[in-house]
Amino acid sequence: MMANSLRAAALLAFVVLSILVSLLISSVQQFGARTSHFSNATVAAADDEELSLLRGALIHQINERRKEIIPLLLLHEKKSNKNINNNNEDEDNAPSVGTLLSPQLDVDYNLWDEITHGSREAHLDGMGCDSLVDMQAVEILGSGYTKLVVKVNLAGGQPVALKLVNEQGIDMGKCVEDFKDAPGCRELVSYKLQKEIVLLQRLRHPNVIKLKGHCAGNARGQGGERGRVAVILEQGNPLQMIQLLQSPWEDRFRVCLDLARLLHFLSQSPLGSVALLDFQPRQFVTVAGELKLTDLDDASAEETACRGVADCTLQFPHRNFTLPCSARGVCEGLNEKRNIYNAYRYFFTYLLPHQAPPGLTHLVDHIMNSTGELKADINQTLEAFEHILLLYKSGLHLDNLPPSIIRDYNVIRGMGTSGNAEYRCWPSYSQQGCVLSVSSAREAAYICNSHSQCNSFTLTGHTTWTGRLLASFRSSFSHLVPDGTSEVYVKKTNAPEASPV
Ligand SMILES: Nc1ncnc2c1ncn2[C@@H]1O[C@H](COP(=O)(O)OP(=O)(O)OP(=O)(O)O)[C@@H](O)[C@H]1O
Ligand SMILES: *[C@@H]1O[C@H](CO)[C@@H](O)[C@H](O)[C@H]1NC(C)=O
Ligand SMILES: *[C@@H]1O[C@H](CO)[C@@H](O)[C@H](O)[C@H]1NC(C)=O
Ligand SMILES: *[C@@H]1O[C@H](CO)[C@@H](O)[C@H](O)[C@H]1NC(C)=O
Ligand SMILES: *[C@@H]1O[C@H](CO)[C@@H](O)[C@H](O)[C@H]1NC(C)=O
Repeated sequence: MMANSLRAAALLAFVVLSILVSLLISSVQQFGARTSHFSNATVAAADDEELSLLRGALIHQINERRKEIIPLLLLHEKKSNKNINNNNEDEDNAPSVGTLLSPQLDVDYNLWDEITHGSREAHLDGMGCDSLVDMQAVEILGSGYTKLVVKVNLAGGQPVALKLVNEQGIDMGKCVEDFKDAPGCRELVSYKLQKEIVLLQRLRHPNVIKLKGHCAGNARGQGGERGRVAVILEQGNPLQMIQLLQSPWEDRFRVCLDLARLLHFLSQSPLGSVALLDFQPRQFVTVAGELKLTDLDDASAEETACRGVADCTLQFPHRNFTLPCSARGVCEGLNEKRNIYNAYRYFFTYLLPHQAPPGLTHLVDHIMNSTGELKADINQTLEAFEHILLLYKSGLHLDNLPPSIIRDYNVIRGMGTSGNAEYRCWPSYSQQGCVLSVSSAREAAYICNSHSQCNSFTLTGHTTWTGRLLASFRSSFSHLVPDGTSEVYVKKTNAPEASPV
């Protein structure tokens, strides 16, 4: 059942992609000019008045979407001079504006050209349409209202994720229903992908998915390739909250720490303070355990203008906040605070407090309270997270463990164990036994003492992302095997109830 639907999905992906790619490859052979996407000829051909009214409305919407992107291209430099509401930049005037400003902005117009008209020139962000020739679609990684994401192996074998317009998505569906023009709608929806490309270019950070390139169809294309855009991304795994809830605290903490690092970056990004308007776990993926933002089409660098505090309220289902209105007439820190509270309500409440290490609970509680009440800014929040990381890595939070605790054990170095009688614990890094991370043998001894079944533990040479050691706890073992990276600790007395010697 599962396998069948997966096979069907893969097949569908392959078909979609094959068609798409052939269209894209042919479309990039012609260069686009800066003209309207709807010629008079097409309008005249559809001599239905209603249709042309609809078309006009759609063109209007397309222009609105375009205007959203242009300030993102300009904001880069000269941030202080920016006028948030000045979206009236006509793209046809753009090159002259570009030549007046820094060379940096010329690059921006190259990008604009590329994403709107398609280009065979060397791509600013690396891969282009050529990279997609002879690729293989593996399966669908995810889909949403707007976009479809497909797992792909490029011709050289490199795995990537390809983001496309979701033809079956709600965005396309609604648009086609309203405007009855599939190619026009595809173009409209593809502006969300184009906005995402610009944002991914501007917001490069370890916790933002890496943009590897893109392939854009020709805007003037006649054969339906108009507005075709494929974004080439680093491949991730969709964030599984349920799975994460069952993982060790260390892994859940990592997601929260990564989020704090991301929000710190967004609060003073090259575009200004960026708010994620649609803040949900499904906008994130993980790459080798690291959290990465992948859905940026709802990111906004706009500030909220205000006359007084009454204009600066942040509303959430169970909580409202009022922020100050600055002398400049903008709500101070609104984007940053919105992000922090969303991080609190979608991530921290679920992931952070549960099973936090005993010596760290007061620090975790403090983060929970200061983010849940919006008492701390992102700098303070990130500092609190990094402080916890430091303590946890080095074991400093275990200050009051008696050093003598390790004297209950005999240590055998350079050996591992075999023929194990294992027991399970939760949450364990291994399904079969009880494997937990520790900062030292002392911490492992403390854990072993607290498990009634535990009679020995092995410190393996393996570490977690924090650098903590993986320790495997056992009730007994039958023999030792040489292992240069391991140490076996055996309780001096095997009677579980015995008091320390
Ligand atoms: N680089 C990637 N690697 C793996 N999976 C990804 C990647 N990018 C996105 N996904 C998955 O694809 C899904 C859809 O992508 P995205 O969120 O960009 O589309 P969307 O239409 O904007 O979705 P939504 O309706 O949630 O806003 C994501 O929820 C995520 O699970
Ligand atoms: C397109 O048609 C409109 C009226 O239908 C006309 O005013 C305009 O001049 C035409 N444009 C071109 C380029 O022919
Ligand atoms: C938040 O403010 C809105 C609008 O003023 C109001 O309707 C709502 O009840 C408030 N919610 C809470 C939880 O205070
Ligand atoms: C923060 O702490 C205060 C005082 O203890 C408490 O009243 C409040 O409910 C806490 N808020 C959150 C979001 O945990
Ligand atoms: C936050 O930290 C950054 C540097 O990381 C600094 O430039 C900025 O001024 C700080 N903001 C506040 C409000 O302290």
